[in-house]
Amino acid sequence: STLPTLFTPLKIRSLTLPNRIIVAPMGMYSAPHNGHLSPFHLPHVTQFALRGAALTIMEATAVLAAGRTSPLDAGLYLDSHIAGMKEVVDAVHALGQKIGIQLNHAGRKASGMPLERGMDARIANKEEGGWPEEVVGASKLRWQEGYVEPREMEEGDFEEVVTGFVRAAERAVEAGFDVIEIHAAHGYLLSSFLSPSSNTRPDKYGGSFANRTRLLLRIITSLRSAIPATMPLFVRISATDWMTHTPSAPQWTLTDSINLAHELDGLGVDLLDVSSGSNNLLQQIPPHAEYQIDLASSIRSSLRGAGKTMLVGAVGRIDNALIARDTVQLNAAGDAKADAALVGRQFLRDPSFVLNVAEALGVEVQWPSQYWRAAPL
Ligand code: FNR
Repeated sequence: STLPTLFTPLKIRSLTLPNRIIVAPMGMYSAPHNGHLSPFHLPHVTQFALRGAALTIMEATAVLAAGRTSPLDAGLYLDSHIAGMKEVVDAVHALGQKIGIQLNHAGRKASGMPLERGMDARIANKEEGGWPEEVVGASKLRWQEGYVEPREMEEGDFEEVVTGFVRAAERAVEAGFDVIEIHAAHGYLLSSFLSPSSNTRPDKYGGSFANRTRLLLRIITSLRSAIPATMPLFVRISATDWMTHTPSAPQWTLTDSINLAHELDGLGVDLLDVSSGSNNLLQQIPPHAEYQIDLASSIRSSLRGAGKTMLVGAVGRIDNALIARDTVQLNAAGDAKADAALVGRQFLRDPSFVLNVAEALGVEVQWPSQYWRAAPL
């Protein structure tokens, strides 16, 4: 029998991954000392790398202190953050695997309380380590009740944010990361600029599609030229606001994402990581398991139809072998829904997900050599 596409190599610039399962970025709210990693991160990340995950993308990591989603976010806004990151990177490399990092500015969702089960999202005030007065956003629209009204970004803020992304990327390169992902999803700063539901600016950063995408494109261009040409760059977007039930409300749609994807292909973005939502409280997400894979698939087929090669990653409820396999399987016509499967929660349940998927699909993969007596025959 032929190998499922899932276990065929994925080549991205200088990087070759032996399979197409990627650990999705997941914020762990475990960096209590001004963005520096804590002893939690090394075992957390290496558990995936040790057990077959060829590429793990580390959590949303702040590019500016004020752009943290919470007081417990990891950061790359100080040179002193590099050493802790390098320790994790080196450990993953010693295990023979690759590691990426997601760079973020939280925008109007900054200074939040780290979420715990059953808790309502709200601002962290000063006594709780927050910085409510320093929260900036695309516009003066608060994220939701319990959050502050952000200060609308002004000329100097743009320079600071762009430089923040570029400097954080340079630090990530210094720490040895293999991949950088720009977080432009989930209603954080870059995502909130894209959508007219959160961006009501009257200047060149608001209004038209070209204006709303301007900040993201500017950051991609600056960052791409600041990192090695051999280094893969990913961008995560929310492919829709899920607001089509109110067609007259301003919103970011799948069509917008397709148009954006065509532009990103030309800017040296290697993989578009297709998530969705979290930018509008009135969103209505379809209740079926493939809701997000469908978005990735639509974007990919539009790109391929135009002869564009940017890779597309699918994410969301990929939690078993068959869904993982089918998400990236090339059919007889050479089409697939996506090029890579990003997996979040299932890796928290089962850090051996890659090994277990391989076994379920009858594919031989390399187990940690030390564990040979437990590996399938
Ligand atoms: C997330 N998610 C997420 N997304 C992101 O872009 N940056 C982040 O830092 C986080 N943080 C985060 C923490 C935790 C605990 C979870 C469960 C999720 C979203 C995540 O990457 C993924 O897109 C979703 O979880 C959907 O995929 P799964 O979990 O269904 O495979």
